[in-house]
Amino acid sequence: MHKLYQIIFKLVLLWLLPVTGLLSCKPEKPQQKNYTIGFSQCTGSDLWRKTMLEEMKMELSLHPGTSFQYTDAEGSSARQIEQVQDMLTKPIDLLIISPNEAQPLTPVVEQAYQRGIPVIIIDRKIASSQYTAYVGADNFQVGQLAAEYIGNIWKAKGAVLEIMGLPGSSPTIERQRGFADGISRFPRLQISQQVYGDWLARDAEAALLKAPEELKKAAIVFAHNDVMAAAATKVITQLKINTGIKVVGVDALPGSGAGLEMVSKGRIDASILYPTGGKEAISTAFKILNKVPFSKENILPSLVIDSSNVALMKLQWDKIRNQQKDIERQQALLREQQVLFKDQQLILNVTTISLVLAVILGGLAFYALLENRKVNKKLMEMSATAKLANEAKLNFFTNMSHEFRTPLTLILSPLEDLMLDQTIKGTAASNLKLIHKNAFRLLKLINQLISYRKLEHKSMKIRVSENNLSEFTKEIVGSFRHNAEKQHIELRFSPASGKIMAWFDANMLDKVIFNLLSNALKFTPSGGRILVTIAEDDSHIRIAVSDNGQGLSEEEAKRVFEHFYQGDPASSKGFGLGLSLSKELMLLHHGDISLHSRKEEGSTFTIHLPKGNLHFSPTEIAQETIDQSELYENARIYTTSLDELPKAQIPETGHQLKAQSILIIEDNPDLLNYLLQKLSEEYEIFIAGTAEQGMQLAFEQVPDLILSDVVLPGSSGTVLVKNLKSDFRTSHIPAILLTAQDSVEQQILGMEHQADAYMIKPFNYSYLLATIRNLLKTRELLKIHYSSDISSSGKPQMARNLDKKFLNDFAAIVEANLDNERFSVEDISRSIGISRVQLYRKVKAMLDCSITDYILNRRLKKASYLLLHEQHSIAEITYMVGFSTPNYFATVFKTRYGCTPSEFRKNQ
Ligand code: FRU
Repeated sequence: MHKLYQIIFKLVLLWLLPVTGLLSCKPEKPQQKNYTIGFSQCTGSDLWRKTMLEEMKMELSLHPGTSFQYTDAEGSSARQIEQVQDMLTKPIDLLIISPNEAQPLTPVVEQAYQRGIPVIIIDRKIASSQYTAYVGADNFQVGQLAAEYIGNIWKAKGAVLEIMGLPGSSPTIERQRGFADGISRFPRLQISQQVYGDWLARDAEAALLKAPEELKKAAIVFAHNDVMAAAATKVITQLKINTGIKVVGVDALPGSGAGLEMVSKGRIDASILYPTGGKEAISTAFKILNKVPFSKENILPSLVIDSSNVALMKLQWDKIRNQQKDIERQQALLREQQVLFKDQQLILNVTTISLVLAVILGGLAFYALLENRKVNKKLMEMSATAKLANEAKLNFFTNMSHEFRTPLTLILSPLEDLMLDQTIKGTAASNLKLIHKNAFRLLKLINQLISYRKLEHKSMKIRVSENNLSEFTKEIVGSFRHNAEKQHIELRFSPASGKIMAWFDANMLDKVIFNLLSNALKFTPSGGRILVTIAEDDSHIRIAVSDNGQGLSEEEAKRVFEHFYQGDPASSKGFGLGLSLSKELMLLHHGDISLHSRKEEGSTFTIHLPKGNLHFSPTEIAQETIDQSELYENARIYTTSLDELPKAQIPETGHQLKAQSILIIEDNPDLLNYLLQKLSEEYEIFIAGTAEQGMQLAFEQVPDLILSDVVLPGSSGTVLVKNLKSDFRTSHIPAILLTAQDSVEQQILGMEHQADAYMIKPFNYSYLLATIRNLLKTRELLKIHYSSDISSSGKPQMARNLDKKFLNDFAAIVEANLDNERFSVEDISRSIGISRVQLYRKVKAMLDCSITDYILNRRLKKASYLLLHEQHSIAEITYMVGFSTPNYFATVFKTRYGCTPSEFRKNQ
């Protein structure tokens, strides 16, 4: 699978590379840099300059992405210098400037130029050639054109009044020179007066009003722009001067109230077209920026507009204006289309990628399908082989099960002969019973296994016949009566008599009822009751087996019919195969089995059997009577396996006590009885069925060894051992754990809880006995080791901490009381905090002597030391080691050392 993912990944990469390449393959456009263009305008408020700016923007729209920085000096040269300088601090690629005045602006333009920033001068000029390009009309020619028009077309004569622009601005200078040059060719014309209007109507008006006489004398007024020309007309009208004065302006701008309109309406007589050059400036800028050849001087044409051509001009202007609007509209449309195109391109890209991926994934899916088929085929082959192997195994298992029945029968019949032999008594007789009972248990299990296998194999065929079910059930119940009585369980069948006819397979149904009853007896305690009822309604017959035994939890009740469900793992009484087998057998009857149970209250199993025989096929119906022999065999199998064995009793007081004792904790009564019988030959035995009972007995009796099952009802054997080992009253007792759980983990767990040995069931009795003997012997050796001299510094290394503490405490109490004549065992048991019996057993177990012997021994040892090493009198020593009289001291001393204390002192 991992390999498949690698292939998928590689394929996707291989596909995606060309696809992404394909998608990015758009028609190549020259890669344009996004430029920044700065434009410094000398004044921006009048129409002519506004038109210039509009033209520029229109042209700029063809270069999207360009940044356009615009400043307006509002007619101030100082401000314009500042603005240009400020622009130079920013990253601009090109500077366009329309200088307010030539001289003042020259240095800053030169500065920009020298820095390598291309500079385009528009309309007005500077007083230097240090610029990159110039765009604008020839103002000298504009002046000349005006003069020639006045002289040639109007054939005018007389005084001419000239209204000039801003002094110092290049158009003023050049227009004035050109006009003077032109006028000089017409001797009948003389420039009679020149005033400055500074390009503004207001200033022109003021200047004219200062020279009204000159105006009255003038035949012609030439103003350097239309704004000032209009101001002249206004003053002429205002002063009611001779209306024959002809007025000529410059600019001829289209638009409302501008030059063209003024000419057409006769407010002024003519205007010299002066193009703004906005469009040309921008196109020149891009030529420079894109390093395309360009001309440094770009002179725009000009011409005279008067009443003869103004209409045509206006028409052309309107047409241009309309075209302009069309262009704007189309540009807007284009922008919309571009957005749409971008969206569509995105969709197209996504679709293409999806399509490619779909193709790839489709391919991969197909590949995976093929692979899958191959794997499936292999799996099918493997499963067929496994099935065959499984079949073979199961057949072997079934055959083996059948094989087991023969030797079992051969065990059972001579065994039953032996049991009839009256000469076999005692242990031998109870052993025979144990074998008998367990052989039947084995037979029952084998029979169930075979039935189960047949069911699984669908080879178990049901053969029903009509019989009295009530009688049949009653008979089965009857076969358990003996066991029930022995267990002191009340067993009733209700109704006691009656006839309920039903179609059933007796060989199957008996197993179900036997099984239910045998379970009920197993789980009902002594003194309990079991009730079997049979009842019918229109459609069904129901047999209910209810007991007031331990019952089942909800969880257990749900799972009880599952195959191989074992019930509470802590209990030795499992359900085995019986209940799931019963369920299957009832299903073969088209019936069912159900359970109603409550923990600690008991259980009711109910068999539901449909009435009539219409639900059986003709081949399933047989006219046979019940085979009593089979019923009898099943009765024997189910009841014998339930038999109680004679209970071995705890030996009565008064009988010969054995030197060592063993506490057996086992909940399986048969195994407990067996161990009891066998071990009681050699040891004193205490028995318990639960860990709690075992613990209590261990504290009370302090046995020499504990033999406990691991799985016990309630607390486990491992926990029991752990608790006993951590209590100093019992910590010295060796413990053997007995279990069917043979996993290494279980054994390690047992050892971790300080078990001294671990025995796996089924165990060999001799091996168990050898282990017990061995452990007891090891304890003996330890005892000798401990008791040699517990007050010496050579402390037993093997002693466990608790035992070490006990011995230290014990010895210390004795040492401290050696001079106390009244010192008794009670005093020690009170000081240590355990009962006299426990103290006695513990000291016996660990030191192998009685407490009084130990105390006496210590007294005499101390006395011998004092006699040899101290100067005390014998009488003094007598009281120092707790003897009441010197005589008694001498007698006891002599029995131990073979001489009196005074002889002892002398001899040494
Ligand atoms: C506009 C204007 C025009 C004139 C030009 C000269 O500001 O006065 O009317 O033709 O400037 O620079």
